Order: sequence, then structure tokens, then C-alpha cells
Amino acid sequence: MNDHDKRIPQTVPIQSATFTNPINAEIRRAAATGIYDIRGGGAKRRVPHFDDLLFLGASISRYPLEGYREKCDTRVTLGTRFAKKPIELDIPITIAGMSFGALSAQAKEALGRGASAAGTSTTTGDGGMTPEERGHSTKLVYQYLPSRYGMNPDDLRRADAIEIVVGQGAKPGGGGMLLGQKISDRVAEMRTLPKGIDQRSACRHPDWTGPDDLEIKILELREITGWQAPIYVKVGGTRPYYDVALAVKAGADVVVLDGMQGGTAATQDVFIENVGLPTLACIRPAVRALQDLGLHREVQLIVSGGIRTGADVAKAMALGADAVAIGTAALIALGDNDPKWEAEYQKLGTTTGAYDDWHEGRDPAGITTQDPDLAARLDPIEGGRRLRNYLKVMTLEAQTIARACGHNHLHNLEPEDLCALTMEAAAMAQIPLAGTDWYPGKPGTSY
Ligand SMILES: Cc1cc2nc3c(=O)[nH]c(=O)nc-3n(C[C@H](O)[C@H](O)[C@H](O)COP(=O)(O)O)c2cc1C
Repeated sequence: MNDHDKRIPQTVPIQSATFTNPINAEIRRAAATGIYDIRGGGAKRRVPHFDDLLFLGASISRYPLEGYREKCDTRVTLGTRFAKKPIELDIPITIAGMSFGALSAQAKEALGRGASAAGTSTTTGDGGMTPEERGHSTKLVYQYLPSRYGMNPDDLRRADAIEIVVGQGAKPGGGGMLLGQKISDRVAEMRTLPKGIDQRSACRHPDWTGPDDLEIKILELREITGWQAPIYVKVGGTRPYYDVALAVKAGADVVVLDGMQGGTAATQDVFIENVGLPTLACIRPAVRALQDLGLHREVQLIVSGGIRTGADVAKAMALGADAVAIGTAALIALGDNDPKWEAEYQKLGTTTGAYDDWHEGRDPAGITTQDPDLAARLDPIEGGRRLRNYLKVMTLEAQTIARACGHNHLHNLEPEDLCALTMEAAAMAQIPLAGTDWYPGKPGTSY
């Protein structure tokens, strides 16, 4: 050490909060490859979420229900507005649409088995209806997507409900991607597209340009299905008040609203992280649209995007949802990102909990793949059992909370049962900040 070094104290090296290590790594990756990053899953950035809300519970001003003796109902009926045969579910947690192609046939079968055992519905996806899925799903919602892959009127009539997909929370305004490595003979046949070539599906329906056309489309689907099956409309969370109002105006029985944390099988990372509204911010405007039309509860609202626990279910319902849908959590229940595959995740350059290259089709858990050897690792019967258990636990958790708040049905949960931990969550969910009667945006006093 020379005299100069002795006199001047050493500075601590400081990492930039703007140019963080992950950002720099992405810049280097882009510079080396010249291609953008594609991945599966939902937004990984932290945004206000259900974790930022708490239930208040009953005390003197509210009277709780006894956990083991007093009932707390969980049933929900979807599609009561126009459909002759609404869907009756034992629990308000449904399985979201995930395509055969993105998922293996074994995974689709396991989702059907688990959902049926739990008394709820599952949903097809951007790849048509597989016989395994129809056969093992007592209630199957059939998606009608812009791509129309695998769409045919016979399958429409085999469905218990039809979900017109306008958008998804992970990529509102964007279309689907299925890379060539996942396009097996069977996937190619179902989608009537060539094997092994990347598929990019349309971001909008080819035969409509606005809400008037959506109305005509809904009428067409009702004619094809004899007005039996409920028609859902699914939108990504962007302008929930107007989108919900327009979907209802066009004749929807049910609106599915998917926030930005919602998962996808494959999209550009920049899209997943930078487009759309957090799920928490979507719910109240959607409910207000239904209330303004006098149709809250008559047109049911299904909320999705980052639902993981019974507490999340209860919070979504307290904010006004009739039911929720889960995608990513269901895959985790089947075995996605399980630590038992850590050695194989390492070989793929990733780790448990971070594996999201679902588009590559090399999933060690056999879920997001079409490789026959990998897919065979997932036993659909065992997977179905795990999903049923998980759905049961979520339901019990939501019931525990509802009883503690004094409610004998999950639907009776209400915004007044909640408080918010942060200003952001208070503003987005329109729930008072904990310990006050105030939330940002609401005129009034705070103490
Ligand atoms: C593997 C995977 C495939 C998906 N495929 C579709 C699809 O074909 N059609 C669709 O509307 N949404 C699709 N989604 C989105 C889900 O339907 C749902 O909106 C989303 O997963 C909900 O958020 P969550 O994953 O946080 O529960 C997919 C999601 C995943 C994870």
C-alpha cells in the first residue's frame, strides 16, 4: 500500500439499481444472439398483488362461524344469463385454458382428472380438444381462439361451455407461439399445420373488427350449440371497465378476466413483463362495469392471473369475482418446477423455481413437452390426484377465512372484509389502508 492509498478511504463497489446484473446479462445475451428472449410463465416482477391485502376477521361488530359445525358453501353456477344449461361447480376454482401442444396429452388428462374429482371444470386451449381430456373432464370448457386451431362444430357441441378468447393477461394484444420442437405428428394433425415448423397464431379474430362483430359471433355459437352451453368471453386485463361492459353488451354469459401475472406457454419476455394491468387492479373496475349494467352476479366474473392459495381465492371473491381460474399453480401441483428434477434443470442452465423455457419442449417433469419419453414421466392418475388434493386444500383455506369473517358462503365475502397493507394496493383494490377508512382516490378523511 503506498502513501496515497493510506490517505484516501476505499469506496465500496456499488451495483447500479438501473443496470442490475440480470439486466446486464440480458443485454449480453441479446448482443451475442440477436434474438429476443421467449419464455413461459407470467410476469416475474413484483407488482401489487393479493399478498398486499389482509382479512379483518370477525370480533364484536361481526360474528364468526364455527369452523367444524357451521357450513360454509362453496358452490357456484356459471352461465345463468342466457344458457339453457349453466355449469354447476362444487368449488369456485376452475382450471384455465392451456393448450394441448403447449402441454403433453398426459398433463391435459391429469388436469381433467383432478378437476373432475374436485367437482370443477377444466378448459381446452389453443390446440383443440383431445379425447383424453374430454373423456376425463366432467365439465369441459372449449376455447374458441383467434387461431381456430383444431376448431370444429362437433367439438363445440361436445363442450359444456364455450370460451371465446379475445386476449390473455400475459400478452394482451398478442398471439400464441408454439415452436417447431413441440409440433409432433399429433399436434400438427390436430392443428392442420406442418410438423416441426414454428407456429405463431393470430393476435385477433380474423372475422371481426369490434364489439358488434363479437355479438354476431356469440349468436352464431349459440345457434351451433342450440343455446345450451354458456358462452364465456376471456380478456386480458388492460381496460377492464370498458372490455367487460362491451363483452356483456355483446351477450356474454360469463367474463373471464386475466391479469398480467397470468401465465402463458410462450411469449416474448418483454411482452410478459411490460404489458397489461396487475390482476389486483383489474377486479374492481370489472365489477363496477357489471354493477353499472345491473348484471353483477347475473353475468359471472372469473378472475385469473397469479392465484396460488385459498387466501387468494377468498380475496378475489371478496373483491367481487364469482370464481377464479388457475393455470401455473395447477402445473406446479402436477410437478412443474419440482426440486426432484434439480439435476436436470441444472443441465438446462436453470434451477428449480426458475425453469420457464416451456417453449423448448424439454420439460423434465413431462408437462410442457411433446417428447414421448419425457411426457411418459407424468402419470395422469397420480397427477390428477395431486391436483384434486391441492384444489381441496385451497377450498378449505378459503372456507376457513370466510367463516372467520362470519360468512356461510364464499360468495358472501365482501370488500368490507379486507384492508390493504400498501398505498398501491389500497388504490388498485379500492380497499382502505390498514387502520384507516381511506384509500387513495377516495375523497374523505384519514386517521
Ligand atoms: C402452459 C400454459 C398454456 C396456456 N395456454 C393458453 C391457451 O391456449 N389459451 C388461453 O386462453 N390461455 C392460455 N394460457 C393462459 C391461462 O389460460 C390463464 O389465463 C393463466 O395461466 C392464468 O394465470 P396463472 O397461470 O397465474 O394461474 C396458458 C397458460 C399456461 C401456463
